[in-house]
Amino acid sequence: MVQRTSPGPTKIQPESKVTVASFVGQKGGVGKSALARVLAVAAAHQGKRVLIGDYDLEQLTCVEWGAARLRNGIEPEVEVRAFKSLKKLRKKVDGFDLVVVDTRGLADDFTEEISKESDIVFLPTGTSMDDLRPTIGLAKRLAHQGGSSKIVIVLSRTGRSERLLEQALAFIERSGFECLDATWPQRDGFQSDMDLGKAGSEASNLYLKLAATKIETALLNCL
Ligand SMILES: Nc1ncnc2c1ncn2[C@@H]1O[C@H](COP(=O)(O)OP(=O)(O)O)[C@@H](O)[C@H]1O
Ligand SMILES: [Mg+2]
Repeated sequence: MVQRTSPGPTKIQPESKVTVASFVGQKGGVGKSALARVLAVAAAHQGKRVLIGDYDLEQLTCVEWGAARLRNGIEPEVEVRAFKSLKKLRKKVDGFDLVVVDTRGLADDFTEEISKESDIVFLPTGTSMDDLRPTIGLAKRLAHQGGSSKIVIVLSRTGRSERLLEQALAFIERSGFECLDATWPQRDGFQSDMDLGKAGSEASNLYLKLAATKIETALLNCL
């Protein structure tokens, strides 16, 4: 958990120990909602009280997932709520240890606002230059606006090509931004698990469980 030694004036709960982790991006389909759930579930399994704030009101991906999780009786419970504004979220964070914010697939004013209020901002991206360029562009914009949030790039929905991974890592390194030291591999099994209301290491397949545990550990270590 991030200890706020010098909280900025606009943070969601300056005096409390709630950690705010946001998933933002310039594109849709890069894994923001999937990774938000992976982190939320990992923290919930550690006994943390977790709230997912779903700001993608068109898709409500996490809200729908939360309903499936409840329907299927999957434990631990993860609270998911839809939000439209930061004001509403600020009123709801009391009693939670971690708030995971999932955002729309288009960076807008809200992306900048929530990034400023977050302890950590994750930017998931594919390994292609098509994804990397706008992601690093957004990371630069967010870094430029100031604030104390940590920015971390996450290689997401990755394929099996080592060469592509290495190229992507080298590009991120040259940009000067931190890259998560685990990737989120593209595997069909993760989709079926998410449809059931599970995420990450809750996978029934052992291989997927292992891959998910690695990224969960890396995400949790960033907090
Ligand atoms: N690791 C993965 N393996 C397979 N499918 C994935 C994986 N991560 C996400 N997906 C799927 O890819 C699509 C886009 O992911 P999503 O997390 O919704 O992206 P975003 O929130 O950035 O738009 C969804 O259909 C999701 O189920
Ligand atoms: Mg989404």
